[in-house]
Amino acid sequence: MNDPVYPDIYRAADTRYTGTDDQPAVPYRRSGVSGLKLPAITLGLWHNFGSDRPLQNQREILRHAFDRGVNHFDLANNYGPVPGAAEENFGRIMASDFRPYRDEMLISSKAGWYMQDGPYGFGGSRKYLVASCDASLRRMGLDYVDIFYHHRPDPECPVEETVAALDHIVRSGRALYVGISSYSPELTRQAQSIAKDLGTPLLIHQPSYSMFNRWIEDDLLDTCAEQGMGVIAFSALAQGLLTDRYLDGVPEGSRLGTHKMNSGFLSDETLSAIRALNDIAAGRGQTLAQMAIAWVLRRPEVTSALIGASSVEQLDDSLDALKNLDFNDTELVEIDRWAVDRGINQWAGATESTE
Ligand SMILES: NC(=O)c1ccc[n+]([C@@H]2O[C@H](COP(=O)([O-])OP(=O)(O)OC[C@H]3O[C@@H](n4cnc5c(N)ncnc54)[C@H](OP(=O)(O)O)[C@@H]3O)[C@@H](O)[C@H]2O)c1
Repeated sequence: MNDPVYPDIYRAADTRYTGTDDQPAVPYRRSGVSGLKLPAITLGLWHNFGSDRPLQNQREILRHAFDRGVNHFDLANNYGPVPGAAEENFGRIMASDFRPYRDEMLISSKAGWYMQDGPYGFGGSRKYLVASCDASLRRMGLDYVDIFYHHRPDPECPVEETVAALDHIVRSGRALYVGISSYSPELTRQAQSIAKDLGTPLLIHQPSYSMFNRWIEDDLLDTCAEQGMGVIAFSALAQGLLTDRYLDGVPEGSRLGTHKMNSGFLSDETLSAIRALNDIAAGRGQTLAQMAIAWVLRRPEVTSALIGASSVEQLDDSLDALKNLDFNDTELVEIDRWAVDRGINQWAGATESTE
């Protein structure tokens, strides 16, 4: 919202926690066994917030999210393009708009995937994680992040070193909580056991999860529940496949149209499934994006659905998922016919790298 007297100044909507007559309030769910509540929907800045997108568009999306109660923003050191650009842009918008609201916001970052050449730009070493966290704080102009993640397993680094680095990041005041991403169930158990011994339990796991990518249902959801960890499910819209984006071809400027997603992901078979699911969503009075988000949130182990958006309109559409989060048994059975793994888990190699 703009301030009515000084239109350049952002003033957060008074309805951000109550909702309005036609926009439900965002529920906040506790992350595992912890004191921290996350919004049921989190906005991620992997794509759409780099140096290739107008800052004003980014600003409008972020303002709109916060106005509707989405107070959690998920970043990483390498989000761009270019790597680091999303954090820099977020830092600019923090400074211009969100500074007065810092205590109401959850800001997350990560390190682990490739960031820079040389031995300290990838992996799980203490050297990389601590230096990268400092660089993220500088780019965003923050004193601390709320959650700092190890972004992917590192088969070459002892998990003890990685978890000790996360513990150090919390104890040194750089982050309030820590988590892991794309870890297998076995490595999750190992990491949590070390973290608990050190006194800084892992708050949350961030895996990929959607109707087209259901690997976490085998064991990881149970593991996280048993370990007291929340789950934030990323790419809940399967990078846009689980929306109306590709029903009539590949639009210019879309993630597929700009080659930011593997073109093989949209096979004829997958397109048929998208159409069938779109019909089921319509029968529920929802868009496919809304049904995809509600479906991820149907699992009690899932704390938050982590989505992206390239426009305010997309974000608005997605947030309206909150109008209907319930499914009856017939709908779930019908969805299961189409909601099967479709070879889109591009992070599986990282998960399996230590097994
Ligand atoms: N931990 C990890 O390793 C990891 C990996 C990947 C992502 N993540 C996190 O998860 C976040 C979300 O990932 P994601 O961007 O792949 O999520 P996603 O929600 O599955 O896909 C977002 C894309 O879907 C399209 N879209 C979104 N809402 C729409 C709507 N209502 N109608 C039509 N199209 C819509 C847009 O595509 P267009 O751009 O084509 O408009 C948007 O960019 C990331 O930003 C990041 O924070 C983490």
